[in-house]
Amino acid sequence: MSQFKLKHNRIGVLTSGGDCAGLNAAIRAITYRAIQEYGLSVVGILASTAGLLERPVRYRDLTLENVDSAYLRKGGTVLETVNKGNPFEYPMPDGSLKDRSAEAIEGFQALHLDALIGIGGDGSARILARLAKEGSIPFIGVPKTIDNDLAETDFAIGYMSAVEVAVDAADRLQPTAASHRRTMVLEVMGRDVGWIALASGIASGADVVLVPEIPFNIDKVCAHLRARHARGQNHALVVCSEGVRLASGQTVSHAFADGEIRLGGVGAAIADLIARNTGAETRVTVLGHVQRGGAPCAFDRILATSLGSYAVDLVAQGKTDRYVVWKFGQLTSVPLDAVAGKTRGLRLDGQLVHTARRVGICLGD
Ligand code: F6P
Repeated sequence: MSQFKLKHNRIGVLTSGGDCAGLNAAIRAITYRAIQEYGLSVVGILASTAGLLERPVRYRDLTLENVDSAYLRKGGTVLETVNKGNPFEYPMPDGSLKDRSAEAIEGFQALHLDALIGIGGDGSARILARLAKEGSIPFIGVPKTIDNDLAETDFAIGYMSAVEVAVDAADRLQPTAASHRRTMVLEVMGRDVGWIALASGIASGADVVLVPEIPFNIDKVCAHLRARHARGQNHALVVCSEGVRLASGQTVSHAFADGEIRLGGVGAAIADLIARNTGAETRVTVLGHVQRGGAPCAFDRILATSLGSYAVDLVAQGKTDRYVVWKFGQLTSVPLDAVAGKTRGLRLDGQLVHTARRVGICLGD
């Protein structure tokens, strides 16, 4: 492969936004490809843009000696991450917001890097793409998010591992539901989209799956559950996404001490509605951050290895300011603005929705 002339033969990598399973597998692939194929050195910037704002900049060298196959299995990110502290609107102790982007760019320049590979979701893509543009930093984005809501890629790193966790939880809920003749409501993450809910619902044989993309009618949900009971099946599983809106049009969220409002709790509201309307005994499980932790599933290891190594190829070819994506089973890349700040929900005419309907899963509509 013809190699573009780099000035420092040194590239940087960081992880940004919420963590997920598979980040370390991507870091390993970037390190291996850069060193083995192109003779580059690799610098891991710690704590994303927060690390670039510190002096000295926080980083660690990534080498063949300190990055090994254990990274494939390791949860979290060895580079740490942040999902707040946008350098363009950095929250200051007095409550004001300050533009600290010039400091982040200086931090990058202090490391003498030819390019930056940022592993992140749509929010990170927006911030990192802008930072890269303003600092003339050649940039490649690698998609990750358990929510799987990044535009242009069929799969983001972390999504399938989160689905595996949800399926495992559902598999554990079903026997106890059957033993007690209960309706179990499993609330999963996903923010404004229902990818985790629908995929895990199909894989675990849920009776009802509620997602933000499809407004639900509680009468239809309860009619579906009553019909199931009438057939002698006295237990049920309802999977709902945390971003589902109630009849009021509102999501259920909680204001935390740091001022952030985070989704959570819609499962309890839905369980209550079901109990009142059907008389069924209901229980709720909120999976939360366990969906982000633990070892990545095999698919995420393969995806992370593919996307990470391909990102290095693009840097070596001088084909930067792009996002690497997995589309129709192929690795390819798209311009940054096709991904930055964009989200991709479930399509109502998409395969997952069709598959769910084909096997009789009630989607609440
Ligand atoms: O975007 C990933 C995600 O895990 C969402 O599914 C969830 O709503 C959110 O992040 C939780 O964020 P935090 O880690 O800040 O609690």
